[in-house]
Amino acid sequence: MQEMNYGCGTILHLAELVNNPTVLYVGVGAGLEALQFAYFSRRPGSVITIDPVPEMRQAAVKNLEIAPQENPCFDPSFVEIRQSDAFNLPIEDDSVDVVAQNCLFNIFEPEDLSRALHEAYRVLKPGGRLQMSDPITTAPIPEHLQQDERLRAMCLS
Ligand SMILES: C[S@@+](CC[C@H](N)C(=O)[O-])C[C@H]1O[C@@H](n2cnc3c(N)ncnc32)[C@H](O)[C@@H]1O
Repeated sequence: MQEMNYGCGTILHLAELVNNPTVLYVGVGAGLEALQFAYFSRRPGSVITIDPVPEMRQAAVKNLEIAPQENPCFDPSFVEIRQSDAFNLPIEDDSVDVVAQNCLFNIFEPEDLSRALHEAYRVLKPGGRLQMSDPITTAPIPEHLQQDERLRAMCLS
């Protein structure tokens, strides 16, 4: 998982993850933060994660099957991986305590970002939290760099 960590920063704030929260993690990557969130709830389905890319879902499934060897408190049933995307969350309204994403929303164009944020707020319970980590810039990024797919995929532009 550490070799396949495509995040920037961390979104886990230990003092905030109280009361066995149900977490929706958008964009599973290799599963590292889904595993870390599961530590705080430790019950089947307490972390739901979605990803539209089959290769990423497969990598996460594989890594989470290995995880109990290194993490005795973890059971793969704690994390449920679903095929979907940030724009159409397969989750009921007002049903999760935390929505989290790391190094994903920054690559969305403004219209898609609005949809993703709208979906996050739709599924959050009242008083729930949206936890995000993304690179930001204080100066405009030139258009040709913004449109460079490789740099976008690396969350650099
Ligand atoms: C840069 S990686 C970050 C992965 C993970 N959050 C981490 O910290 O390692 C972005 C992830 O979002 C997924 N992704 C891409 N487009 C998405 C979308 N529209 N909705 C949800 N996930 C998406 C990718 O397949 C990938 O797993």
